[in-house]
Amino acid sequence: MPLLAEQSAALRQEFLPLLGTDFVEFYVGNAKQAAHYYRTAFGMRLAAYQGPETGIRDRASYVLEQGKIRFVITTALRPNHPVADHVYRHGDGVHCIALRVEDAMAAYSAVKTRGARILSEPTELRDESGVVRMFSIAAYGETVHTFVERDRYEGVFLPGYSPIGPADSLARPAGLKHIDHMVGNVAKGDMNRWAAFYENVLGFQLYQHFDDHDISTPYSALMSKVMANGNGRVKFPINEPADGLKKSQIEEYLDFYQGPGVQHIALATDDIIDTVSRLRSQGVEFLEVPPAYYEALSSRIGRIDEPLDQLSRLGILADRDDEGYLLQIFTRPVEDRPTLFYEIIERKGSQGFGKGNFQALFVALEAEQARRGNL
Ligand code: FE2
Repeated sequence: MPLLAEQSAALRQEFLPLLGTDFVEFYVGNAKQAAHYYRTAFGMRLAAYQGPETGIRDRASYVLEQGKIRFVITTALRPNHPVADHVYRHGDGVHCIALRVEDAMAAYSAVKTRGARILSEPTELRDESGVVRMFSIAAYGETVHTFVERDRYEGVFLPGYSPIGPADSLARPAGLKHIDHMVGNVAKGDMNRWAAFYENVLGFQLYQHFDDHDISTPYSALMSKVMANGNGRVKFPINEPADGLKKSQIEEYLDFYQGPGVQHIALATDDIIDTVSRLRSQGVEFLEVPPAYYEALSSRIGRIDEPLDQLSRLGILADRDDEGYLLQIFTRPVEDRPTLFYEIIERKGSQGFGKGNFQALFVALEAEQARRGNL
């Protein structure tokens, strides 16, 4: 049985080897201000830009980096523009999760054969720094996956972008290293269909599964399947709402985002106490954790390296499984609509997602939802 699983993993890897996440692109109402927030609050560095000053007339994009994390913040400069339409419907949010591949043409024929809906055919972009090949397919809602082949490109981001820097006097780095996982919310009854999409079209495998018994309160519940690619660098949990007495937080998201989309992005650090201290002092808002959480914590997870009083002061959650433990914390939504938020995570052996925290987290999330009048 394990041999079969390994064999099928090897077969899947053959048809679509993914090197990792290349970038995440956000469509926003005001990219200049959103980029300022990510630089000063999250500590990202402005690395490149394109817009009117670089000869692009209809939009502006800011490329931000910290560790291996790369965000592109894009806005439209006129109405009746795909970016403006996206913002009108969804508010600020994630438009594209770009995945890096070694060979874009091979990836294109693999996903096309397997039924991907192609949104843009392979194109080759060139400048004096080299060549990039890209194409895009549809994922849940209006979310897009762009595949990027950039082995023969030496520039900062993509042809057409002007490099900025190396220093960014606004950026206040917080020790964020890479994207750990990115979660999608889909409509009730659609989780299995999207899990199957990642399995059949992109060659992902089911990594973990949570049902409504794992994640529920008297009011609301969710189900989640975590899909991961062969090398484990790309993990996409897919959530759907489950029945509760009142509106699930997933339904609240779907209402305000006007459909499926990216719910949260988990950013990894190897010193969560330092990272969260910096983020808090830089104005990032985190969910309140009920004080009762910390009274029960040490008996639930046993010995850990970090002082409990510091975790409690910063509102950091902890969870343990057979492989070790993890520390995590969730921000409030970073827009006025209760849609996208962030998780900061430090893994100490555990490859889980904080199942033991879901209950505590749900209670905290529902307190916030009630405050917004949506429960
Ligand atoms: Fe998460």
